[in-house]
Amino acid sequence: MAADRAASSHLFWRPGADPPPASAALDRGRANDERASAVRNVHAGLSLTQQRVRLPVFADRRRILYLVETFPTVVIVGHTGCGKTTQIPQYLHEAGWTAGGRLVACTQPRRVAAISVAARVAEEMGAELGAGAVGYAVRFDVRADAERTRILYLTHGTLMREMLADPLLSRFSVVMVDEAHERGASTDLCLALLKKVQRRRKDLRLLIASATLEAEALARFFGGTAPMRMRGPDGAVRLQPPVAVLTLVAARAHPVHRCFLARPCADYVAEAVRAVLELHVQQPPGDVLVFLTGQAEIDAARALLTDAMADAMADAMADGGADAKRRRTSLARHEPAARPTELLVLPLHGGLSRDEQLAAFEPPAPGARKVVLATNMAETSITLDGIVYVVDCGFVKQQIFDAQAGTEALVVAPISRAAAKQRAGRAGRTRAGVCLHLYTQRTHAAMRAATAPEVQRCSLDNLVLQLLSVGIRNVAQFDMPTPPPAAHLACALEKLYALGALTDRGALTSPLGERMAELPLTPLLAAMLLGAVEEGCAREALCVAAMLSVQTVWVGCSHKAQDAARAHFAVYEGDHLTLANVLRAFTRARDAPRWASRRGLDARVLQRAVLVRAQLARFLSRFGLPAENCGRETDRLRRSVVRGFFPHAAQRQVGGEYRAVRGGRRLLIHPRSVLFRAPPEWLVYHEVSQLTNGDEAMIDVCKIEPHWLTELAPLFYEVRTAQRGA
Ligand code: CDP
Ligand code: MG
Repeated sequence: MAADRAASSHLFWRPGADPPPASAALDRGRANDERASAVRNVHAGLSLTQQRVRLPVFADRRRILYLVETFPTVVIVGHTGCGKTTQIPQYLHEAGWTAGGRLVACTQPRRVAAISVAARVAEEMGAELGAGAVGYAVRFDVRADAERTRILYLTHGTLMREMLADPLLSRFSVVMVDEAHERGASTDLCLALLKKVQRRRKDLRLLIASATLEAEALARFFGGTAPMRMRGPDGAVRLQPPVAVLTLVAARAHPVHRCFLARPCADYVAEAVRAVLELHVQQPPGDVLVFLTGQAEIDAARALLTDAMADAMADAMADGGADAKRRRTSLARHEPAARPTELLVLPLHGGLSRDEQLAAFEPPAPGARKVVLATNMAETSITLDGIVYVVDCGFVKQQIFDAQAGTEALVVAPISRAAAKQRAGRAGRTRAGVCLHLYTQRTHAAMRAATAPEVQRCSLDNLVLQLLSVGIRNVAQFDMPTPPPAAHLACALEKLYALGALTDRGALTSPLGERMAELPLTPLLAAMLLGAVEEGCAREALCVAAMLSVQTVWVGCSHKAQDAARAHFAVYEGDHLTLANVLRAFTRARDAPRWASRRGLDARVLQRAVLVRAQLARFLSRFGLPAENCGRETDRLRRSVVRGFFPHAAQRQVGGEYRAVRGGRRLLIHPRSVLFRAPPEWLVYHEVSQLTNGDEAMIDVCKIEPHWLTELAPLFYEVRTAQRGA
């Protein structure tokens, strides 16, 4: 109910309410403590209140509240798991920062983290998630109550959308930017915009939670820790530093024994599976966390583990763990009696439903061992209890922008030494732990010390559009924690201009550019949807946009089963139309879940797509745009796809591979596409992802007519010709 209200108004609280009084008092209201104490946590045997006061951050509660009261910006450094994310917003709430209807916001880089943390805090406060004091707001999913929500967990992207509706964030008293050290593009953008807001709103408090590595740079960005003349919220001028940095009392981090391979391994998924089986057979109880790069690897590892477990356990016990000898530091073997017997394998990645993700947090049944196969999301922002063993594959999936081609690709890249250390640290929360790095010490030494901020390596279309939509005209001069490369900015500006979002003076066009910024879609998808209104097929384009905003629906257990499922729906025009057909058929089916599972489709993902489609439809009706149906005239839908995705056009070459029309990059059709076996001469693609052999493959492609490119995107392809001539 709350979510519905939220979606229809874009804001999730009552619009037009009086701004809150700008005052704050320390340590007001203990009612929540008392309510929380009534709730008992069955697993730990301690009440949630007891658990709360045992967290390391509790020792610094008063100090944190004092600093927030005194300084406009506070940078907080503390170990993962010490209680920053779950506790600090509650302290602020208890201390009166949410009095008068104000909100404390805590932003997360990932939606999973925002949701799971909100659920935990609601439990601690004895509140119903979304209906009481705690809520969350992530893209396409809001659970917050207009009147009652006081602590709101949200993603950085969602906070920026809020700024569109409420540029000064007038309802928020404190914004805590969590995991700031990750330096994601939306995190950096958030920090930059908050700095700007704070100049106009002296009463707004910022809390920035960061790992040690980035703390100093972030403090410097907000004005540094040297005293200067500052005007406080009361108007008085004082001499004090703009930023306070607080390093929390060291969390109870236990030592982690880190092991590297003696020789490099060829296949880290297989090696990870081997390592898990070996740990399971040889090591005392304790859960395992495995870092892999994405859903495909996680699914593969899960299948391998499930299949091989029985055999491998027998083998490993028989040969005394020959594989362990490959490790420089092999682990001591323990008495088999201490071993848990059952192995519970749980995936954890962004493509799962909320319930599936939350399953990874549940403790295993007594005697069983839990293995969580996770993406990078488990590196910092999520705390899993009971992890004693970590297996680190040494890689991460990252967006890498190619300025020459003007597009980005999802590439598997080595992690940094800082990330490796962070991953290892996840093993030492409960007791002394072990981390198996699936690479050699030499490889480790050759890794970068730290990862470059994302703004330096991602496509900036969205960032530029967001900046323009909040009224920042000169994006190149905009004060960011790390300035993005000028060439990448130029690419983004040119693309947005060609999409019709910018005037030739670099301002947002009205209404097209404004609407693109408002839609919770990437600029290209937004342009496709708005272009479909022109083509008279927005009804179908809503299906496409919704399906491309959720995870893959093809979930058959094997590639063959997935291929068969796809073949059933495949149309020669490509994946976009196929996906639209799937969603429409799903909506029409009488027993939709059964219909889906019989066809090898993920009903929950489809259900989510239905919700996303409804939300996007509400945007169109708010813009006063019709959602018409083009029926059998599918060219109109393909033309709409071109209206958004013309920068991603490619032509087939003699050898069967493709060349990007712009930039000439070599591309293949991903085996997951319905056009893999029927490659058209011209197409546009949705995304590029790297295959395991390093080739770049286009995921979700749409067959097009080449003259549509010049007809529908004359600015883009004309500009290109001029450049070529120059
Ligand atoms: O943010 P930080 O890494 O400092 O810690 P946190 O996320 O606030 O977690 C504090 C404690 O809350 C953890 O040690 C977990 O025991 C617990 N927690 C939980 O049980 N379930 C969650 N979803 C999140 C945290
Ligand atoms: Mg945290």
